[in-house]
Amino acid sequence: MLNRRELALGVTGSLCGLMLPIRATPSNSTYESFHKNLPKHPWLKLYKGVQDADTGTTQCQVEGNWPTDLVGALYRNGPGRMERDRRRYQHWFDGDGLVQKWSIGPNGVVTHRARLVHTDKYLHDEAQNELSLVGFGTVGDDSVSISSPDSLNVGNISVLPRDDQIWALWEGGSAWRIEPDSLSTKGIVELSTESSGLPFSAHPRVEPNGTLWNFGYVSHLGALVIWRLDPWKKEPTITVIPRSPMTIPHDFVVTDKHLVLPLPPLHYEPDPDVEHSFLDAHVWHPERSLDILIMDKNDPNDHFVVELAADWYFHYSNGWEDRDGVIRFEGMRYDDPSLMYDAFKSVMRGDPPTNLSLSDLVQFRIDTRARKGTVVPFKNELIACEFPRIDQRRSTMQHEWVTMLGSNSQSPALKFGLLNSVVRINTTSGAVNGFTYPDQEIPEEHLFIPNPNGNRETDGWLLGTSLDYIAEETRLNVFKIGPEAPELLARATLPRLMPLGLHGQFVTES
Ligand SMILES: [Fe+2]
Repeated sequence: MLNRRELALGVTGSLCGLMLPIRATPSNSTYESFHKNLPKHPWLKLYKGVQDADTGTTQCQVEGNWPTDLVGALYRNGPGRMERDRRRYQHWFDGDGLVQKWSIGPNGVVTHRARLVHTDKYLHDEAQNELSLVGFGTVGDDSVSISSPDSLNVGNISVLPRDDQIWALWEGGSAWRIEPDSLSTKGIVELSTESSGLPFSAHPRVEPNGTLWNFGYVSHLGALVIWRLDPWKKEPTITVIPRSPMTIPHDFVVTDKHLVLPLPPLHYEPDPDVEHSFLDAHVWHPERSLDILIMDKNDPNDHFVVELAADWYFHYSNGWEDRDGVIRFEGMRYDDPSLMYDAFKSVMRGDPPTNLSLSDLVQFRIDTRARKGTVVPFKNELIACEFPRIDQRRSTMQHEWVTMLGSNSQSPALKFGLLNSVVRINTTSGAVNGFTYPDQEIPEEHLFIPNPNGNRETDGWLLGTSLDYIAEETRLNVFKIGPEAPELLARATLPRLMPLGLHGQFVTES
């Protein structure tokens, strides 16, 4: 007979599932602690969250001259609702998804709209008039009836423009369809019977020909799911690869020949006698290896592993492969995943993070013929790099420039685990330039937006949001890419502080 956990793991006989916490006593200590500390630390306003973000469309005040060729919409996603009725999630990654749309018109008019993703969990909590304390890193009482991981799917990590819609992406479950103007949620994405309910991670990769690749992990069954969506085919191609012990891969890269999925040794080892969240069911093994899983795109079952030293990574830039079969891509290297265990729980309690693990930028070089690899650090002053982006026209091909966030060691925000700069690095020369925001203004992920009138990686703009937690404003900033440093051209201000978010995508309008 199946126990509760096994039931929770089963998805109508499919491979999909997450280890889910068992029932426990309700707790609001996280809420009490956060609100006790909030007056002492204004930066905590970034993590307070919203209750109902659907305030309609707001026209933003624009300063500077908006580039006339930059017209479209920036969609962003991130944890948006953190608490309700004196109950608060315990981990930043558990906040209910909040999709935001910054629309840029041809006349330089910028408007903003935001809406919570109406997932099954959100609707359940609305109906029950409560906040169910269960999720990726939260364990508490769970009145949610768990029929699949999508019962807990908060759709809060990223967005994907697809088929005239926006998909809100989580990591352990399905994508959610979002109507691109109203931002209303239209249910789960179901592309085929075979793929229904399979996990679709938050960092899919799209080739220049339109083919989309993604992965998902099924921890309790020790399996990886590989997705291929061809533009000429309605149904996805699914490959299942056994892999045990499973870890939490967050990102991967694709070259013209291979899929490259790094698997850090944060292994799924749940203790059946201990009450814990999905995150806490994992154990970091620094004595084991970072396994780089290299799969043939024509048949992902044809794969091999290159073992590297144990490090933790969230994100990678873009993979490309030279004539000698050497794959290169950049990653933000951490000594371990403690940021996820410590800092992202601390901020939910309202405690400044301690023992912050900071990242450095490295380049992977994987020799597919010798089946060996190295990790090469860049020699620069960058610390705490994150959110790498490239010119998407270079996807799966050699790129030169990476845009990311970073920090300098003097930044007061760094001790709170927050970054203060948008940075560009030339991965060939190692040259770095950037723009540093004022102390109280925290940048979120910035994107490179190509200029339709040019094709070089420097022909375009940087576009990104920032959160001024003193003025309680949110801004959309656009930069000209200069020879030395990004030059701020214009900014649009929303007179409201939105929660600190994660990833976005830009949709160009002609
Ligand atoms: Fe991410």
